[in-house]
Amino acid sequence: MLVVLGPASQELGKKTAKLLRAETVSVAFKRFPDGESYVRFESKLKNQEVIIVQSTSPPQDTNLFQLFLIADTAKEIGAEKVVAIVPYLAYSRQDRRFLPGEAFSIQIVAKLLSEVGVDQLLTVNVRQKVLKEFPFPTKSVSAIPLLAEHFKSRGLEGAFALAPDEGAKEYAMTAAKILGGSYGWRHKERDRYTGAISFTDEKYDVRGRDAIIFDDIISTGGTTADAVRTLKTQGAKRVYSACVHPLLIGDAERKIMSNGAEEIVGTDCVSSSASKVSVAPLIARALTGKEA
Ligand code: R5P
Repeated sequence: MLVVLGPASQELGKKTAKLLRAETVSVAFKRFPDGESYVRFESKLKNQEVIIVQSTSPPQDTNLFQLFLIADTAKEIGAEKVVAIVPYLAYSRQDRRFLPGEAFSIQIVAKLLSEVGVDQLLTVNVRQKVLKEFPFPTKSVSAIPLLAEHFKSRGLEGAFALAPDEGAKEYAMTAAKILGGSYGWRHKERDRYTGAISFTDEKYDVRGRDAIIFDDIISTGGTTADAVRTLKTQGAKRVYSACVHPLLIGDAERKIMSNGAEEIVGTDCVSSSASKVSVAPLIARALTGKEA
């Protein structure tokens, strides 16, 4: 087994390879002045299983295209099997045509990955519905337990777990089991034409208690910032934000912190200032079936 360190996930790739006790393969890459990507394998591949670690967080299209170049070339130069580890799977939110005439983006990504020779995909916190679009075996593992354990080890045992929308309810439930506290969720509605979101709340059991918001993605930070404000208004003592994919676009971090959050804790599925928990052990376990 060889681990290819994709340009977008060098550190995560190295950590994963170390846990797998696997050799790593470097890929030289550059961007041409006009923005095109170039990759070149620096060693040969011999009928081996090749694991490519490449997240497709922003810049999504560049990172995706580099993954296409690496996977196709790996097969061309001798890889027997190509497993793509894509911790953040771009376009997974466009998992159907919400409005007539829209591109079915994740289905197109799935077709392209198959076309360039990917035989298997491992990703993190992606819904089963999304994975059904892929014509080859796929698996998604959840980093929520790692995030909950992180907070538990820091003394936040018993903290209230909040899902910022119904889609994240399962995350709050999982986290609450680990933290040994209660959980709740908000109702979120999105206007598909304007993108505007609105929330409905109930009274959460947070007065004088610590609370942690669990979500898969923080993009613009609007969803989390609003949840922080609500929990503070309802009397929560300290409010933390936990997310698997801290994209933190624009002033997302400032928005969340200025509403009263103590800290944002994300994973290294996406490299950002909040990437404090590594998913390398999760990936290694999913690949081998053994504790790393
Ligand atoms: C969507 O339902 C996801 O789970 C996140 O809640 C959403 O992507 C967060 O987006 P934003 O940070 O832009 O509010």
